Amino acid sequence: EQINKGKYKHYMQKEIHEQPESLTTTMRGRLIRGGACKSKTVLLGGLKDHLKTIRRSRRIVFVGCGTSYNAALASRPIVEELSGVPVTMEVASDLVDRQGPIYREDTAVFVSQSGETADTLQALDYALENGALCVGITNTVGSALARKTHCGVHINAGCEIGVASTKAYTSQIVVMAMLALAVGGDMISNEARREAIIDGLLDLPSKVKEVLKLDEEMKDLAELLINEQSLLVFGRGYNYATALEGALKVKEVALMHSEGILAGEMKHGPLALVDHNLPIVVIATRDACFSKQQSVIQQLHARKGRLIVMCTKGDSASVSVGGSCRVIEVPHVEDCLQPVLNVIPLQLLAYHLTVLRGHNVDQPRNLAKSVTTQ
Ligand code: G6P
Repeated sequence: EQINKGKYKHYMQKEIHEQPESLTTTMRGRLIRGGACKSKTVLLGGLKDHLKTIRRSRRIVFVGCGTSYNAALASRPIVEELSGVPVTMEVASDLVDRQGPIYREDTAVFVSQSGETADTLQALDYALENGALCVGITNTVGSALARKTHCGVHINAGCEIGVASTKAYTSQIVVMAMLALAVGGDMISNEARREAIIDGLLDLPSKVKEVLKLDEEMKDLAELLINEQSLLVFGRGYNYATALEGALKVKEVALMHSEGILAGEMKHGPLALVDHNLPIVVIATRDACFSKQQSVIQQLHARKGRLIVMCTKGDSASVSVGGSCRVIEVPHVEDCLQPVLNVIPLQLLAYHLTVLRGHNVDQPRNLAKSVTTQ
């Protein structure tokens, strides 16, 4: 049934729209309300015998390629916050190229939708040789990644067919938020934060439904941008990964140059590109970085930047510099889960841009769903 496009024209479109259901499946049986101490807990069966080792590791190394790397990057801050273990990021091919140091005391977390990406598997062999505890996060039961890692979590997002990954991305983030909760354990000092995240997770499917209502608005925006050469996406903090992932979607399916930019680096190069022609998406939803993003918007506006600002519902007036920017409003959720909501308008934008520009949505030229050769 999942293989059928149903009422949709393309698999990518279907997979974007089925995210309320895929996220529900990802969380099914894993978030337990109540329990002995009445607080809510997370149960990840595939990790339970290894949580102590992960907690005691000297660092956690996230490894992946493409969208899976971006999902890991989105999850890095919450894993660091709740576990207290430093997290470093590795693009799989680069780890292998450098033969970067991996130690017995490391936990290496491999993220791959297919579980068959050659670079990720090679990095896994390398980490196994070096004695790290290897954890797999994949959508594919029985994949090489699932078989070769010591333990792991299936994301259970359902079969993903479109080459551009969409629902697997949001499910990966949710799994890594649950991993952060599981590794963080039930320290009293974290209790309120943990409960807020679990409530946020449970609310996600309905909030994703709300974001999907932006479909027409994103189509209108795509019509405006149809002939552009380039699109920049600025983000920071939890949403740096959203900027990279939004830009990757636009690049890989709409075949438009697009770059995700860490807003904190704006003055170190990107600002030179800003003029009244180049469209720029700025992600400025409410979190600890909000006021910094407001200032970025002011500075881009002062250079006549053509801005499209993504903000929290009700914040239009505080981000649109006197109504001069186009605004995309999304619902608010706990900061570490906000990337799940924020990426969706960008997935929809990439989808509509692709259709309007007449490109192949599900099979972009030169790309493969799973890159099994090097
Ligand atoms: C290819 C796909 C991407 C995917 C990446 C990593 O480039 O086109 O959508 O993100 O591989 O794939 P994986 O299966 O390891 O997540």
